[in-house]
Amino acid sequence: MLVPQNNIFVFANWKTKPATLAEAKKIIASYPKSTGRMELVAFPPFPFMGMVQEMYTPRRLVGAQNITELVPASSFVGGVTPSQLASMGMRYVIVGHSAVRAAGENDQDINTKIRALLENNMIPIVCIGEHARDESGEFFHDIEEQIQGTFDGLTKKDFESIIIAYEPLWAIGEEALRDAIAEEVEETVIFIKRSIGTLTGNQRIGRTTIVYGGSVSNGEQAQDLLNAGCRGVLLGRASLDPKQLGSIINGVKTYRNKK
Ligand code: PGA
Repeated sequence: MLVPQNNIFVFANWKTKPATLAEAKKIIASYPKSTGRMELVAFPPFPFMGMVQEMYTPRRLVGAQNITELVPASSFVGGVTPSQLASMGMRYVIVGHSAVRAAGENDQDINTKIRALLENNMIPIVCIGEHARDESGEFFHDIEEQIQGTFDGLTKKDFESIIIAYEPLWAIGEEALRDAIAEEVEETVIFIKRSIGTLTGNQRIGRTTIVYGGSVSNGEQAQDLLNAGCRGVLLGRASLDPKQLGSIINGVKTYRNKK
């Protein structure tokens, strides 16, 4: 499945929230039904997926937060496979989120998951990002290493079906040190595109799709990130807050109207 080229993405990653089905119904009921060429994709926890798919259509706008390491898929109790998700009409799956990496997932595991998703005609959203940002630019080295490990052996063609989520760890979640500024995001987006170009021997790097994630909470910030070369945003907390989500959606629309 090729990444749609004309759309802006707003990925709403609910993580482990909310606590109950009733609350999940309220959240998805607050999502706008039609967003034109913006894809607002909800990533609810697995138990709420069926309900979210019934209340929020089309089905491709509901995604999964992860799949299970597939060896051996048949006996991994509690596991979720790409073919199951694909058969539910899903298109997008997040892999390599920093929370999952922190729990022990490594680049090789993520590489296996990316390949499994591509084989099932789905679009992996692959998270990468540095732990800290230093003045001397050492962090670029970390990102490069992560890219080489995570995307090892993937081709230029594969990247037409992959979305990269640039998520600097220092800017994510309640522990975030500060928001990333647009210039920092812009230079890193260019760096990531160049690294993918080197990895795949592709001089034309324009088609690598990158979204940004890390404490995005308002429309102005979303516009800055789109202007910095991102094709969308990956939201955590803001995806559960109708006011923040509304502001971000309006920001994307304003950006679009200016184009
Ligand atoms: P946040 O989460 O928006 O709450 O910082 C982003 C993420 O973890 O992907």
